[in-house]
Amino acid sequence: MKVLLLNGSPHPKGCTAAALQEMIRVFADSGVETELVQLGNRDIRGCIACGSCGKTGKCVFADAVNETAPKFEAADGLVIGSPVYYASPNGTLLSFRDRLFSSTRFSNHMKVGAAVVSARRGGNTASFDVLNKYFSISGMPIATSTYWNQVHGFSAEDVKKDLEGLQTMRNLARNMAFLIQAITDAKEKYGYPEVERKYFTSFPDGK
Ligand SMILES: Cc1cc2nc3c(=O)[nH]c(=O)nc-3n(C[C@H](O)[C@H](O)[C@H](O)COP(=O)(O)O)c2cc1C
Repeated sequence: MKVLLLNGSPHPKGCTAAALQEMIRVFADSGVETELVQLGNRDIRGCIACGSCGKTGKCVFADAVNETAPKFEAADGLVIGSPVYYASPNGTLLSFRDRLFSSTRFSNHMKVGAAVVSARRGGNTASFDVLNKYFSISGMPIATSTYWNQVHGFSAEDVKKDLEGLQTMRNLARNMAFLIQAITDAKEKYGYPEVERKYFTSFPDGK
């Protein structure tokens, strides 16, 4: 079992990192291999809708998106961590996810997803909803916890005092490990459910 964790914060040792490290410790105890990719301080531009990825299966820009795509393909689960900026996930991470999810051609079906947000004070659940939408359009089951997956703080030291936030991260990691194992076992027993791709319409009448 492999889980890829992405940190959208520019701070490799900040609040989001503290939340992800709490999960990594539980994954290690549960026998889940992890890799953490630090994204928030990389130069990652937005999607220009050029359509090139439709032909090549990779983004036209050679940066962290194409570097991370094979790691995502190999992973059974994906954790996305973001600081909250103006009540949304931060821009670098959103640019990254738009391009990663639209440029890759491998199936994300039944890879388990989890979103984690870090805020000083507000905007957590709005950001959490945005991050979860990439999973829910991709056939990715979403792991949940004992609260919405959030920590509070302005520094990693603050997050260490957010005992409920850290507990939420540990429970999330345990649930995610269980879900990945359960899906692996169910795939052996039943196979994955069929995915239809026949229709791609903009209007209800199909025109
Ligand atoms: C541009 C910017 C916008 C921010 N907007 C918010 C916000 O809307 N709500 C909030 O609670 N914190 C906001 N913050 C604070 C950080 O999101 C918060 O301290 C977070 O925990 C930092 O995580 P990090 O150390 O992983 O970067 C903002 C910070 C920056 C730099």
